[in-house]
Amino acid sequence: MKIVVVGGSGLIGTKLVRNLRQRGHEVVAASPSSGVNALTGEGLAEALAGVQVVIDVANSPSFEDKAVLEFFETSGRNLLAAEAAAAVAHHVALSVVGTDRLLASGYFRAKMAQENLIKASRIPYTIVRSTQFFEFVSAIAQSAGDAKTVRMSPALVQPVASDDVAAALADVAAAEPSNGTVELAGPAPIRLDELVRRFLSATRDSRTVITDVHARYFGTELNDRSLTPADGPLIGPTRFEAWLSRSITPG
Ligand SMILES: NC(=O)c1ccc[n+]([C@@H]2O[C@H](COP(=O)([O-])OP(=O)(O)OC[C@H]3O[C@@H](n4cnc5c(N)ncnc54)[C@H](OP(=O)(O)O)[C@@H]3O)[C@@H](O)[C@H]2O)c1
Repeated sequence: MKIVVVGGSGLIGTKLVRNLRQRGHEVVAASPSSGVNALTGEGLAEALAGVQVVIDVANSPSFEDKAVLEFFETSGRNLLAAEAAAAVAHHVALSVVGTDRLLASGYFRAKMAQENLIKASRIPYTIVRSTQFFEFVSAIAQSAGDAKTVRMSPALVQPVASDDVAAALADVAAAEPSNGTVELAGPAPIRLDELVRRFLSATRDSRTVITDVHARYFGTELNDRSLTPADGPLIGPTRFEAWLSRSITPG
Protein backbone atom coordinates (compact mmCIF):
# COMPACT_ATOMS: atom_id res chain seq x y z
CA MET A 1 0.00 0.00 0.00
CA LYS A 2 0.98 3.63 -0.38
CA ILE A 3 0.83 5.22 3.07
CA VAL A 4 1.46 8.77 4.30
CA VAL A 5 2.61 9.23 7.89
CA VAL A 6 1.82 12.79 9.01
CA GLY A 7 4.34 13.61 11.72
CA GLY A 8 6.67 11.04 10.16
CA SER A 9 9.75 12.70 11.70
CA GLY A 10 8.51 12.50 15.32
CA LEU A 11 9.07 9.90 18.06
CA ILE A 12 6.30 7.57 16.90
CA GLY A 13 6.45 8.69 13.26
CA THR A 14 10.09 7.70 12.76
CA LYS A 15 9.52 4.21 14.18
CA LEU A 16 6.25 3.80 12.29
CA VAL A 17 7.79 4.77 8.93
CA ARG A 18 10.59 2.22 9.50
CA ASN A 19 8.15 -0.50 10.56
CA LEU A 20 5.84 0.05 7.55
CA ARG A 21 8.78 0.04 5.10
CA GLN A 22 10.02 -3.24 6.61
CA ARG A 23 6.55 -4.66 5.87
CA GLY A 24 6.96 -3.66 2.20
CA HIS A 25 4.70 -0.60 2.04
CA GLU A 26 5.53 2.54 0.08
CA VAL A 27 5.72 5.23 2.76
CA VAL A 28 5.90 9.03 2.66
CA ALA A 29 7.12 10.63 5.90
CA ALA A 30 5.28 13.96 5.89
CA SER A 31 6.04 16.88 8.20
CA PRO A 32 7.07 20.55 7.99
CA SER A 33 10.74 19.51 7.82
CA SER A 34 9.95 17.65 4.57
CA GLY A 35 7.69 20.41 3.15
CA VAL A 36 4.29 19.08 4.29
CA ASN A 37 2.48 21.29 6.79
CA ALA A 38 -0.95 20.15 8.00
CA LEU A 39 -1.52 23.49 9.74
CA THR A 40 -1.06 25.66 6.63
CA GLY A 41 -1.99 22.98 4.10
CA GLU A 42 1.36 23.37 2.31
CA GLY A 43 2.33 20.24 0.35
CA LEU A 44 -0.68 18.18 1.49
CA ALA A 45 -2.35 17.63 -1.90
CA GLU A 46 0.94 16.55 -3.49
CA ALA A 47 1.80 14.19 -0.61
CA LEU A 48 -1.62 12.51 -0.71
CA ALA A 49 -1.77 11.77 -4.44
CA GLY A 50 -2.41 8.04 -5.00
CA VAL A 51 -2.37 7.24 -1.26
CA GLN A 52 -4.65 4.59 0.32
CA VAL A 53 -3.94 5.18 4.02
CA VAL A 54 -3.01 8.29 6.05
CA ILE A 55 -1.71 7.83 9.59
CA ASP A 56 -1.72 11.03 11.66
CA VAL A 57 0.88 10.99 14.44
CA ALA A 58 1.63 14.73 14.36
CA ASN A 59 1.79 16.67 17.59
CA SER A 60 1.50 20.35 18.42
CA PRO A 61 4.81 22.20 18.94
CA SER A 62 3.07 24.13 21.75
CA PHE A 63 0.92 22.66 24.57
CA GLU A 64 -0.49 26.09 25.49
CA ASP A 65 -4.33 25.80 25.55
CA LYS A 66 -5.14 28.07 22.59
CA ALA A 67 -2.20 26.97 20.43
CA VAL A 68 -2.80 23.25 20.86
CA LEU A 69 -6.53 23.56 20.10
CA GLU A 70 -5.74 25.60 17.00
CA PHE A 71 -3.17 22.98 15.96
CA PHE A 72 -5.43 19.91 16.18
CA GLU A 73 -8.55 21.66 14.82
CA THR A 74 -6.92 23.35 11.85
CA SER A 75 -4.56 20.55 10.91
CA GLY A 76 -7.38 18.03 11.34
CA ARG A 77 -9.68 20.00 9.03
CA ASN A 78 -6.95 20.51 6.41
CA LEU A 79 -5.91 16.88 6.48
CA LEU A 80 -9.43 15.43 6.23
CA ALA A 81 -10.32 17.81 3.37
CA ALA A 82 -7.18 16.85 1.46
CA GLU A 83 -7.93 13.16 2.09
CA ALA A 84 -11.48 13.55 0.77
CA ALA A 85 -10.11 15.19 -2.39
CA ALA A 86 -7.58 12.36 -2.83
CA ALA A 87 -10.16 9.60 -2.06
CA VAL A 88 -8.07 8.21 0.79
CA ALA A 89 -9.60 4.92 2.01
CA HIS A 90 -8.47 4.88 5.66
CA HIS A 91 -7.53 7.61 8.14
CA VAL A 92 -5.70 6.30 11.21
CA ALA A 93 -5.07 8.71 14.10
CA LEU A 94 -3.17 8.36 17.35
CA SER A 95 -4.96 9.72 20.42
CA VAL A 96 -4.77 9.15 24.17
CA VAL A 97 -6.62 6.71 26.45
CA GLY A 98 -9.01 8.68 28.67
CA THR A 99 -9.19 11.77 26.44
CA ASP A 100 -12.92 12.18 27.12
CA ARG A 101 -12.31 11.99 30.91
CA LEU A 102 -9.56 14.64 30.95
CA LEU A 103 -11.31 17.65 29.47
CA ALA A 104 -10.19 19.98 32.28
CA SER A 105 -6.90 19.93 30.36
CA GLY A 106 -6.46 22.13 27.30
CA TYR A 107 -4.33 19.44 25.63
CA PHE A 108 -7.05 16.82 25.97
CA ARG A 109 -9.76 19.25 24.79
CA ALA A 110 -7.67 19.62 21.65
CA LYS A 111 -7.29 15.83 21.22
CA MET A 112 -11.08 15.49 21.70
CA ALA A 113 -11.62 18.10 18.97
CA GLN A 114 -9.28 16.11 16.69
CA GLU A 115 -11.26 12.90 17.35
CA ASN A 116 -14.62 14.63 16.79
CA LEU A 117 -13.53 16.03 13.42
CA ILE A 118 -12.50 12.52 12.33
CA LYS A 119 -15.81 11.02 13.44
CA ALA A 120 -17.77 13.76 11.64
CA SER A 121 -15.85 13.35 8.38
CA ARG A 122 -16.77 10.92 5.62
CA ILE A 123 -13.33 9.28 5.55
CA PRO A 124 -13.34 5.69 6.91
CA TYR A 125 -11.21 5.79 10.07
CA THR A 126 -9.68 4.02 13.02
CA ILE A 127 -8.69 5.99 16.14
CA VAL A 128 -6.00 4.33 18.24
CA ARG A 129 -6.01 5.63 21.80
CA SER A 130 -2.70 4.80 23.46
CA THR A 131 -1.62 5.17 27.06
CA GLN A 132 1.51 7.20 27.93
CA PHE A 133 4.74 6.22 26.18
CA PHE A 134 7.67 5.13 28.40
CA GLU A 135 9.63 7.82 26.54
CA PHE A 136 7.17 10.43 27.86
CA VAL A 137 7.85 9.75 31.56
CA SER A 138 10.74 12.21 31.53
CA ALA A 139 8.41 14.98 30.24
CA ILE A 140 5.79 14.04 32.87
CA ALA A 141 8.42 14.50 35.59
CA GLN A 142 9.51 17.78 34.01
CA SER A 143 5.94 19.10 33.87
CA ALA A 144 5.18 18.95 37.60
CA GLY A 145 7.88 20.17 39.88
CA ASP A 146 11.02 22.18 40.41
CA ALA A 147 14.74 21.46 40.62
CA LYS A 148 14.38 19.37 43.79
CA THR A 149 10.89 17.87 43.91
CA VAL A 150 8.26 16.44 41.61
CA ARG A 151 4.61 16.25 42.75
CA MET A 152 2.84 13.24 41.32
CA SER A 153 -0.58 11.71 41.60
CA PRO A 154 -0.64 8.05 42.71
CA ALA A 155 -3.28 7.32 40.04
CA LEU A 156 -2.90 4.07 38.11
CA VAL A 157 -1.38 4.23 34.63
CA GLN A 158 -0.46 1.49 32.15
CA PRO A 159 2.32 2.96 29.99
CA VAL A 160 3.60 1.45 26.76
CA ALA A 161 6.83 1.43 24.72
CA SER A 162 6.80 3.67 21.62
CA ASP A 163 8.12 0.73 19.53
CA ASP A 164 4.98 -1.20 20.48
CA VAL A 165 2.77 1.81 19.60
CA ALA A 166 4.38 1.99 16.15
CA ALA A 167 3.88 -1.77 15.61
CA ALA A 168 0.21 -1.57 16.64
CA LEU A 169 -0.40 1.39 14.31
CA ALA A 170 1.18 -0.53 11.43
CA ASP A 171 -1.18 -3.47 12.14
CA VAL A 172 -4.20 -1.14 12.23
CA ALA A 173 -3.17 0.55 8.98
CA ALA A 174 -3.07 -2.84 7.21
CA ALA A 175 -6.55 -3.81 8.47
CA GLU A 176 -9.95 -2.52 7.35
CA PRO A 177 -11.12 0.75 8.97
CA SER A 178 -13.21 0.02 12.09
CA ASN A 179 -14.93 3.43 12.11
CA GLY A 180 -14.34 3.26 15.84
CA THR A 181 -11.72 3.48 18.55
CA VAL A 182 -9.26 0.86 19.80
CA GLU A 183 -7.24 1.22 22.98
CA LEU A 184 -3.59 0.28 23.40
CA ALA A 185 -1.71 -0.11 26.70
CA GLY A 186 1.47 -1.59 28.09
CA PRO A 187 1.65 -4.97 29.84
CA ALA A 188 1.26 -3.83 33.45
CA PRO A 189 -0.46 -1.15 35.52
CA ILE A 190 1.68 0.93 37.87
CA ARG A 191 1.03 4.01 40.01
CA LEU A 192 2.16 7.23 38.35
CA ASP A 193 4.21 8.43 41.33
CA GLU A 194 6.01 5.06 41.44
CA LEU A 195 6.62 5.07 37.68
CA VAL A 196 8.28 8.49 37.88
CA ARG A 197 10.25 7.42 40.99
CA ARG A 198 11.63 4.39 39.13
CA PHE A 199 12.52 6.50 36.11
CA LEU A 200 14.33 9.15 38.18
CA SER A 201 16.20 6.47 40.12
CA ALA A 202 17.29 4.65 36.93
CA THR A 203 18.57 7.93 35.46
CA ARG A 204 20.27 8.84 38.80
CA ASP A 205 18.14 11.98 38.92
CA SER A 206 18.20 13.32 42.50
CA ARG A 207 14.74 14.90 42.45
CA THR A 208 12.32 13.53 45.07
CA VAL A 209 8.83 12.43 44.08
CA ILE A 210 6.14 13.68 46.49
CA THR A 211 2.91 11.71 46.30
CA ASP A 212 -0.07 14.08 46.13
CA VAL A 213 -3.59 12.93 45.20
CA HIS A 214 -4.37 16.49 44.06
CA ALA A 215 -1.27 16.90 41.87
CA ARG A 216 -2.39 17.90 38.40
CA TYR A 217 -1.46 16.02 35.26
CA PHE A 218 -1.25 18.62 32.45
CA GLY A 219 -3.97 20.67 34.14
CA THR A 220 -6.26 17.96 35.47
CA GLU A 221 -6.55 15.88 38.66
CA LEU A 222 -6.46 12.12 38.17
CA ASN A 223 -8.11 9.02 39.61
CA ASP A 224 -7.45 5.35 38.86
CA ARG A 225 -9.84 5.43 35.88
CA SER A 226 -8.49 8.61 34.26
CA LEU A 227 -5.57 7.18 32.28
CA THR A 228 -6.25 3.43 32.28
CA PRO A 229 -7.91 1.51 29.45
CA ALA A 230 -11.25 -0.31 29.57
CA ASP A 231 -11.27 -4.13 29.43
CA GLY A 232 -9.52 -5.79 26.50
CA PRO A 233 -7.10 -3.20 25.08
CA LEU A 234 -4.37 -4.14 22.60
CA ILE A 235 -1.27 -4.84 24.67
CA GLY A 236 2.25 -3.69 23.81
CA PRO A 237 4.43 -6.45 25.28
CA THR A 238 7.56 -4.51 26.36
CA ARG A 239 7.92 -4.19 30.14
CA PHE A 240 9.03 -0.88 31.67
CA GLU A 241 12.05 -2.48 33.39
CA ALA A 242 13.21 -4.05 30.09
CA TRP A 243 12.83 -0.71 28.32
CA LEU A 244 14.67 1.11 31.13
CA SER A 245 17.62 -1.25 31.05
CA ARG A 246 18.09 -0.98 27.30
CA SER A 247 17.23 2.73 26.81
CA ILE A 248 18.61 4.62 29.76
CA THR A 249 22.18 5.61 30.35
CA PRO A 250 22.36 6.59 34.01
CA GLY A 251 23.14 10.32 34.15
N1 LIG B 1 3.30 11.26 24.62
C1 LIG B 1 2.48 10.26 24.94
O1 LIG B 1 2.69 9.56 25.94
C2 LIG B 1 1.29 10.00 24.06
C3 LIG B 1 0.37 9.01 24.44
C4 LIG B 1 -0.69 8.72 23.58
C5 LIG B 1 -0.82 9.42 22.37
N2 LIG B 1 0.08 10.40 22.06
C6 LIG B 1 -0.08 11.08 20.76
O2 LIG B 1 0.97 10.64 19.92
C7 LIG B 1 1.12 11.57 18.86
C8 LIG B 1 2.59 11.63 18.45
O3 LIG B 1 3.39 12.03 19.52
P1 LIG B 1 4.98 12.07 19.41
O4 LIG B 1 5.49 12.14 20.82
O5 LIG B 1 5.49 11.00 18.49
O6 LIG B 1 5.20 13.49 18.72
P2 LIG B 1 6.59 14.27 18.44
O7 LIG B 1 7.76 13.38 18.65
O8 LIG B 1 6.51 15.56 19.16
O9 LIG B 1 6.51 14.55 16.87
C9 LIG B 1 5.61 15.48 16.37
C10 LIG B 1 5.56 15.35 14.87
O10 LIG B 1 4.54 16.25 14.41
C11 LIG B 1 5.10 16.94 13.30
N3 LIG B 1 4.43 18.22 13.10
C12 LIG B 1 4.52 19.34 13.87
N4 LIG B 1 3.81 20.34 13.29
C13 LIG B 1 3.28 19.82 12.16
C14 LIG B 1 2.49 20.36 11.12
N5 LIG B 1 2.10 21.64 11.13
N6 LIG B 1 2.12 19.55 10.09
C15 LIG B 1 2.52 18.26 10.04
N7 LIG B 1 3.29 17.69 10.99
C16 LIG B 1 3.66 18.48 12.04
C17 LIG B 1 6.58 17.11 13.63
O11 LIG B 1 7.27 17.42 12.42
P3 LIG B 1 8.70 18.23 12.37
O12 LIG B 1 9.70 17.28 12.98
O13 LIG B 1 8.94 18.46 10.92
O14 LIG B 1 8.48 19.46 13.19
C18 LIG B 1 6.87 15.71 14.15
O15 LIG B 1 7.06 14.82 13.08
C19 LIG B 1 0.47 12.87 19.35
O16 LIG B 1 -0.69 13.13 18.59
C20 LIG B 1 0.08 12.58 20.80
O17 LIG B 1 -1.14 13.19 21.17
C21 LIG B 1 1.11 10.70 22.86
